[in-house]
Formats: sequence, structure tokens, C-alpha cells
Amino acid sequence: MPKPLSRILVIEDEPLVLREILKGLNAAARTLDNPFGIAFGGVATAQEALAAIESDGDIQAVIVDDKLYTLAGNGKRAGAKTLQMSALELVQRITGLRPELNVYILIAKEQEDEVVDALFTEAVDGYFYREERDYRGIYRILNAQIQEKARTPFTDQLKNYVWMAKDQWHTPGHSSGESLRGSPWVNDFYEFMGDHVFDADLSVSVPMLDSLMEPKGVIAEAQALAAKAFGARRTFFATNGTSTANKVIFQTLLAPGEKLLLDRNCHKSVHHGVVLSGAQPVYLDSALNRKFGLYGPVSKKTILEAIRRHPDAEALILTSCTYDGLRYDLAPIVAAAHAKGIKVIVDEAWYGFARFHPAFRPTAMEAGADYATQSTHKVLSAFSQASMIHVNDPGFREHLFRENFNMHTSTSPQYALIASLDVARKQAVMEGYKLLARTLMLARELREQINSTDMFRVLELEDLLPDEVRHDGIRLDPTKVTVDVSGCGYTVDELQKELFDRYNIQIEKSTFNTITLLLTIGTTRSKVSRLYDALMRIAREKRAARRLVRTPEIPAFTKLRYLPRDAYYCGGELVPVFDDQERVNRALRGRICADGIVPYPPGIPVLVPGQLITPDIAEYLARLLRSQKRIELHGIVHEGYQPCVRALRPQEEKALRRIG
Ligand SMILES: Cc1ncc(COP(=O)(O)O)c(C=O)c1O
Repeated sequence: MPKPLSRILVIEDEPLVLREILKGLNAAARTLDNPFGIAFGGVATAQEALAAIESDGDIQAVIVDDKLYTLAGNGKRAGAKTLQMSALELVQRITGLRPELNVYILIAKEQEDEVVDALFTEAVDGYFYREERDYRGIYRILNAQIQEKARTPFTDQLKNYVWMAKDQWHTPGHSSGESLRGSPWVNDFYEFMGDHVFDADLSVSVPMLDSLMEPKGVIAEAQALAAKAFGARRTFFATNGTSTANKVIFQTLLAPGEKLLLDRNCHKSVHHGVVLSGAQPVYLDSALNRKFGLYGPVSKKTILEAIRRHPDAEALILTSCTYDGLRYDLAPIVAAAHAKGIKVIVDEAWYGFARFHPAFRPTAMEAGADYATQSTHKVLSAFSQASMIHVNDPGFREHLFRENFNMHTSTSPQYALIASLDVARKQAVMEGYKLLARTLMLARELREQINSTDMFRVLELEDLLPDEVRHDGIRLDPTKVTVDVSGCGYTVDELQKELFDRYNIQIEKSTFNTITLLLTIGTTRSKVSRLYDALMRIAREKRAARRLVRTPEIPAFTKLRYLPRDAYYCGGELVPVFDDQERVNRALRGRICADGIVPYPPGIPVLVPGQLITPDIAEYLARLLRSQKRIELHGIVHEGYQPCVRALRPQEEKALRRIG
């Protein structure tokens, strides 16, 4: 089992002083308890310090001497005030690079007031008096600080309980797997899953494990550590994924009829949240990259225009980064929304790691968003369904949030999920920078290797960006690798099958001429090599390029006649998409849809509940249903062989309030 290593960097430009400090601290690390492998190293200039912090992912903390640093590093000594400012600037640069690091300052006693003032405004964890030379004391504090970050309060308590091996007179029914272990019929499941899956599957009947519904103990502690790590005021663990997290926030912020600005290309949970909350949606059309069939971000112009036209909106939700890795320049959008009192929610389902490497920042929280939802399970080491809700909203209504959170949360949450969030946070803080630096390097290598096949080509930001968002400051998360496969001689479906059947490779997603690969902190170099090898072999086949069939473009949004919730709760009637002669059914025209109709891929609703069905839309649905490549069409009801749309009855419409 590899042992942890925690390097602590001392930044001190007097060589003799530096040597003495390092000697004293390393001696303390050798002689005192050192479970985290603490070792001290030193540098003499700010430049060297920043370079070390950037290149060495094992650095966990820094000690900055306050009297030295000029970032120019030209060795000039200036007056005390200037020098102190430059130490603070150095601290800002350090935390800008790696906010998870602990930063301490070495000060002279007489500077206390000035420095303490500055500490309040900076993310500094504390200070030591230089003259005291209390190296054992300093070591103990640093050791305790690292221990604090590395704590997993919930997981530790869960393990404690399991080791205590109490007789269980409580749920769950399998009782630590007892019901399966001895069974001739189902013990194979027990064997397959392993002891601890069952041992750790506990319930709220165990008070020492706290309650997700009203956390006061180890869950509250774990959430507080997560809030600190992710730069939020508050963090909540969600065990039903970001799908539920989004709904909880909507129901907290939006009363029925209140306006929500949303990207039409957002996840279906957002559309479901509109129905549940009763909000009045204002859809923002996302930009479309026709060449690759990719629905991208919404243009800044569209967002700002919507904010201007709907200053009465309660909230705006955006997805950043998108599934394809495109992320907004959020700060100006957040500022514009806040100027009108509109709350900003950012769905960071695909971006939960971003805080831990500067290549991905700023995160939504850092850009000033009020809420961010993250599928920790998608991109960090948490179990599926384990997500986090981060809150920065100064007007956070905790009671309301709690009611909604509890409304959507099972009273029997899976404790392994909570533990995995605790552990995912610890890992992100302790080694996230290092792992993400490796992931970025692997992403670079993978890109080069794919391009070297001369058949497959990785799409860069310029290729991915639709024209209308080209000047919006959008950036690409390089861990999402989208590859143009149009020249390989396979259709995308054939290619996916070939990769799966022949090379054991499962990709993340596709369009008619691209595939997308997701790199995470779990990606290894051998996995990258295997993919390269597979693509190279396919490229060497030199098949003749095929004509690839485009997915028809989603028609523009029509009209929202009634609130989605009102329409959804109407009984409605089923109207067939085709008539008796297999033509598009004219009876659909002008009707109002009661369900969300979502072709998948790309997963954007062509109809939402309450929306007007136009001839174009009816035609579009018919085309998809007739297409050879049967796309999933969520929301279409099959009555026998007849595909139907649930539409409002005329008398139902009469009873509803029209909004458009
Ligand atoms: C943008 C976006 N938001 C939310 C979700 C839902 O996340 P979860 O799977 O954690 O429920 C997804 C899932 O794919 C997503 O792509």
C-alpha cells in the first residue's frame, strides 16, 4: 500500500535562516508522530516557490516568510510595507494556483497587527513568529492541519461501527448480509459484492452515523469539510444524483408561476424540475455546431438579452461545462444576473473536479454563482448517484431548502454513497492537483496519438465552437476528447460496436460523425495506449469513407401556451403521429403537448409540456420515427404499434391559464 507523502515548502530568502528552519522542522518530523509522511523543503524566491507549487503535487502546505518577497525576484530589498504586500501577493498567487494548500506566514513579532489584518482578507491559515524557532510546535500545528484536511469523519465512523460488529436489530433486512451469506440460492450475490458492501449498508437507526435529513454529527462535519474544499459557504451531499439536486434547488428558489431562464439544452432533470416546481420557463436556445451535430452553450448575447428582457426572473440555470467540455466565461453572466437580482445556478455535473487544478478554474462558485450541482460520481471517486450541492447564495433559505431536500431524499439513503463523497473530497484535496495534472498530460498524449493515426482527428475548441459563441470567452475542458470519425469507413454505430466487441472499449457518447471519450483521474496510461492501438489498427484498414446520415436538427422552440406543470397534470388524450395513410397526422397541428418529448441523442426536448405543436414539429417527429436509425424518442407513447403524443383536450385547455 503506498504511503502518503506531504511536502511542506518553506519560502525564505536568507540561506542560513532557511537551512536552520528546514533542519529544525525536518528533525521534528523525524522524531514526532508523522503519519502523513511530512517532509520540509525550501526555496529562496517567489518564482521558485510558484514553480515548485505548480510542478510538485505532493506539496500540501507552504510557509511564507513575510518580509522578503518581491515577485520580480530581482533580489532588491524594499521597505517593510512593500515587502509585506509582496508576501501577500505571493499568497494570492499560491491560493490562485492551488486553493487547497494550507498557507502559513512567518512574521516578526512587531509586525503582528499589519499582518493579522491582512490575514483576515487572505486565505491564510495562520502565522508563526520567526524568532521563536519553535520547530516542534510548528510541526505539530502543520501535522494537525493536514490531519484535519485528510479526515473523513463519516467514513471513519462508518468503519468504526462496522468493526464494532453490533448485533443488528434494525434495517436493512439483509442484516450485514446474514440473509444472503448462508443461502444456497443467493449467496453468489454476496460473494460477488463482498462483505463490506453489506456490512456498511446501514440505516438511520444507528445514531452514531448521523442523519442525512438533519445532519448534526459526522455527516454535518463531512459536509463542512466539503464546503471548505470546494469553496462554498455550504455543501450538501445528495444521494440521488445531480438529477435530484437540480430539482431540490428549483423547488427552493421557484414558486409556481415564477420565471426561470434555462438553456433548452440542459439535462432532463432541469425540465423535470420545471414541472415539479411549477416555474414558468424562458428557454434559451443553445448554439448548434451543424458540422458535428453538437448542441453547445447558449450565446452570451442570448443570455444577456434574456436577463434584460426578464428582470423579473428568479433564477437562471446554465450547464458548465457541457457534456462536450465547453465552459462558459461565467463571471460576467453572473454579474449581469445579480444586477437584476436573479440567482444563478450552474449545473456542473461534468465538472466536479475543476476546483483542484488551475487549468479548469474558475469554478461556478469562484465565478460568483449562487448554487452549483456536481455529479461527484461522474468525474471523481464517488459511487454512482453521489452528488454535491454547493451553496453560496447570500439569501440562502435553509429551512426551505431542507424541506425540499428531505422531500426528494430517501429516508434510507445508501451510506456507502455518503462515505464515497467524504472520500472523494479527501482525495480531491490531498492529491487532486497531482492526479488532474496527470490526467491533463494523458489527455494531451491521447490527442497527439489520435491525430497521428491520420484518420481520426480530435476536435479542438475552434472546431467545437458554433459561430455564434466564438467570441464569448468559452473554453474547452481538455479531459473531454471529441473525435471526428467521419473518415474511418465505419458509421458511428459500427465503430462503437467494433471498439466494444473487438477491443473491449466503451466510449462515452457519440453524434453522427463524432465519438467522445472522457478522461478522469482514474484514466491510466495503459488505457490510453489500448485506445490508441485500437484506433491505429482501424485506421490501417483504410476503409473507404462512408456517407454518414445526419440527425435532423431540432426545430426551433415554438410557443409555450401553458405552464409546463399545468399541462403535465392534465389527463390529455393520445393523438397518433401518423394517420391511416401513414402520413403525418394533421390532427396534431395546433395541439398542446402534455409531456416532454425528447429525442435521445442529443437529449434536447423538441416539445415540453404546455408547448404548441406546429406542422414542422409534427413532421420532425414523424421523420425521426421513420428513420432507419431508430433514435430513442422519450415521451412518445405507443398504443399498439401507433406512436402517439399525449396532447391536452380542448376542454382541459379552457380550464388553464394561458401564458403565451
Ligand atoms: C448536464 C447534466 N446535469 C445533470 C445530470 C444528472 O446527473 P446524475 O446522473 O448525477 O443524476 C446529467 C447526467 O448525465 C447531466 O449530463
